[in-house]
Amino acid sequence: MASQNLLLLPGDGIGPEIMEEVKKVIAWFNAHGGTDFSTEDGLVGGSAYDAHGQSISEDDMSKAMAADAVIFGAVGGPKWDTVPYEVRPEAGLLRLRKDMELFANLRPAICYPALADASSLKKDVIEGLDILIVRELTGGVYFGEPKEIVDLGNGQKRGIDTQVYDTYEIERISKVAFELARTRNNKVTSMEKRNVMKSGVLWNEVVTQTHKNGYEDVTLEHMLADAGGMQLVRWPKQFDVIVTDNLFGDMLSDVAAMLTGSLGMLPSASLGAPDAKTGKRKALYEPVHGSAPDIAGTGAANPIAMIASFGMALRYSFELVEAADLLDKAIANTLDKGLRTKDIAAQGGATVTTVEIGDAIVAELGALAG
Ligand code: IPM
Ligand code: MG
Repeated sequence: MASQNLLLLPGDGIGPEIMEEVKKVIAWFNAHGGTDFSTEDGLVGGSAYDAHGQSISEDDMSKAMAADAVIFGAVGGPKWDTVPYEVRPEAGLLRLRKDMELFANLRPAICYPALADASSLKKDVIEGLDILIVRELTGGVYFGEPKEIVDLGNGQKRGIDTQVYDTYEIERISKVAFELARTRNNKVTSMEKRNVMKSGVLWNEVVTQTHKNGYEDVTLEHMLADAGGMQLVRWPKQFDVIVTDNLFGDMLSDVAAMLTGSLGMLPSASLGAPDAKTGKRKALYEPVHGSAPDIAGTGAANPIAMIASFGMALRYSFELVEAADLLDKAIANTLDKGLRTKDIAAQGGATVTTVEIGDAIVAELGALAG
């Protein structure tokens, strides 16, 4: 296999610790899995601000644009609460998403059998759960203009964000959802708030139209996003693929994460459109969880979402399906053996550290590969 370049952006908080575990997995695949990944390190978020006064430097931005895939940890923390809004840690992540045009965010929520007891929901509600949230990632209220706080001059201020979607944005994200549904259980649930929002009315229309234009073999269902949140907790197994906008997708994917036992379990892939010439997509892979500054440096962080995000890179950027399956199996086996970081441990149960989970997954890879 030709050499592939990965840009590693560990970020802040637990980001660097969990990225260390991914490095071990990358090294294992290079030594035993027939891959040839080269890696470069960059800074993003608060760590980039401390070094350059920016949430990502132009140099690292160019590296991200050129990389075969970006592997991203997490950003943010109380240390940077008071930095100017434009250079806050999250701005680095949002710039990467926007400039790389990563409009499709895939957030699978899978309940590993060994973790069915770790969820706050009853076992029969989440056992065997396998859903995929497809979140629109470069539009909506995250990026709409105007976005500002206006001084009204009468002692009052006005905070404004703009929710805005164009037809093409809704069409391309729904196509991604329909195509992924075909590789799974062939059902898409689209979520919006058409009862209150004009952007929701358009969202509903365009998803329906796109479905008519070549995806009628896929079952399509529409749900108001608030009802969708309720149904996710009531009976999540009714869903296969959920497609929704940027803000609803942010919230619903945190809800979905907890179904699986812990936010520390959920990986994600953010993909751009295939390049017209090469067919390759720009891509960034990141765990759904944040930088967890409260546990940074204590060895308590769960590296599984981060490692599984690298697994998604194997699958979606490099079409190394067998390698991706092997890594998923190694994660499942590690959990089967009862290894647990604090977030997924039974109450009063034994826990292991970030490094121990990473080492165990690498050992499982070795055992599985024979
Ligand atoms: C996520 C995060 C980000 C988001 C933050 C860190 C900007 O919550 O990826 O879900 O809101 O998209
Ligand atoms: Mg979020």
